[in-house]
Amino acid sequence: MGFSLEHGSLGDGSPHIRHAVRSDRDALIRLHRALYVDYRNHIGNASLRPLVAYRDFASVLVDDVDAMMNSRNTEIFVAELRSVLIGYVTGRTEHDPRREISKKGVVEDWFVAPTHRGHGVGRALFANLAKRFAERGCGLIESTTWSFNRAGRAAHERLGFKEIQVMYRMPLNLTYPTQT
Ligand SMILES: CC(C)(COP(=O)(O)OP(=O)(O)OC[C@H]1O[C@@H](n2cnc3c(N)ncnc32)[C@H](O)[C@@H]1OP(=O)(O)O)[C@@H](O)C(=O)NCCC(=O)NCCS
Repeated sequence: MGFSLEHGSLGDGSPHIRHAVRSDRDALIRLHRALYVDYRNHIGNASLRPLVAYRDFASVLVDDVDAMMNSRNTEIFVAELRSVLIGYVTGRTEHDPRREISKKGVVEDWFVAPTHRGHGVGRALFANLAKRFAERGCGLIESTTWSFNRAGRAAHERLGFKEIQVMYRMPLNLTYPTQT
């Protein structure tokens, strides 16, 4: 796994990678929506939607972005091309002294606009986040995505992630046979 691309080193005519600033808020909300509404609906299995749905997703997305921007424990990097944000990655650190590797970096969101994918922007965003996690003393990086996100899973594996867990959900409004 090599993370050699850091702040703005993609080359001429390529996006600039930098920390998010306050004035990025609206653009970040749009990217957040593009990931959690447009992309998820595009790849998602409609039958699973009730298991992941929120009541008022529009305000959840805004709350998420505001919470991340206000948290000193959260890193937000953006990719900017000609004054437009085309991608972002976010993550926070967690500490559990009982673990052999006690501090981890947790990736929360990782997204590049569809027309800019496949040119190293996602890797460059991730490289910056990974470097910050290392500077903050993290010994590993954790990331989750939907099981039906085949492309996103492949990109994770390409970066060196190993799958360690799967999550199941079921609605409780079904009738199951019980033993008497
Ligand atoms: C995942 C994502 C952020 C990657 O951004 P990107 O700019 O396309 O990524 P890069 O071009 O930097 O590629 C990074 C690596 O992943 C690999 N990769 C990217 N997409 C891939 C795919 N669909 N299948 C297989 N490998 C893939 C690339 O080959 C590259 O590996 P390499 O550098 O060793 O060749 C982008 O595809 C995206 O926004 N996807 C939708 C949202 C998503 O799934 N996010 C992740 C989970 S929340």
